[in-house]
Amino acid sequence: MEFENVIKERYSVRSFKETEIEQDKLDRILEAGRIAPTAVNAQPQRVFVIKSEEGHQKLREVCKMTYEAPVVLLICADIEKSWKIKMDDNFDSAEMDAAIAGTQMMLEAWNLGIGSCWIRAFNSFEVREVFNLSQNLKPMFMLSLGYRSDDSVPNEKMHSVKNSIDEMVKYL
Ligand SMILES: Cc1cc2nc3c(=O)[nH]c(=O)nc-3n(C[C@H](O)[C@H](O)[C@H](O)COP(=O)(O)O)c2cc1C
Repeated sequence: MEFENVIKERYSVRSFKETEIEQDKLDRILEAGRIAPTAVNAQPQRVFVIKSEEGHQKLREVCKMTYEAPVVLLICADIEKSWKIKMDDNFDSAEMDAAIAGTQMMLEAWNLGIGSCWIRAFNSFEVREVFNLSQNLKPMFMLSLGYRSDDSVPNEKMHSVKNSIDEMVKYL
């Protein structure tokens, strides 16, 4: 798919078919996260693939908003690996790095005909506990992934209303 069409047509999908995502497509989505740019190439992004029934059961305990997607990616960052700037209020690139990897995966998914929704409606401490993650791994967000239901449409208020270029951009 043309890149321009990927970014223009993508929308957050909140209704999925039960159809499994083929492993080769999932691999391509994960690859898009692997090769993402990160500060000083530290590559702190860590991705947990939730697709087993056991994984989904645990997930349901800590997040009610995954829209029954067949696959949910839990994107974390290893805060022992991410780039820090002590002199700048302890800036930590972890969240940015994870978000760029997530964005690449979200767009690659759409490119392959797979819908996604970015999810942050969870408590990261609960997520860490239920999946038994080590303290250095900070859960950042999730991406629900799957084929769109036939009746899936972009949410009118939550998708179609965007600021104008003038509201967003100022030339200095
Ligand atoms: C940081 C972030 C957190 C989000 N969290 C959620 C969420 O918890 N649940 C949800 O349904 N959508 C969530 N979204 C999706 C946004 O609601 C959606 O991207 C926005 O309304 C624009 O719609 P669009 O993606 O269809 O263009 C999140 C998006 C971002 C970037």
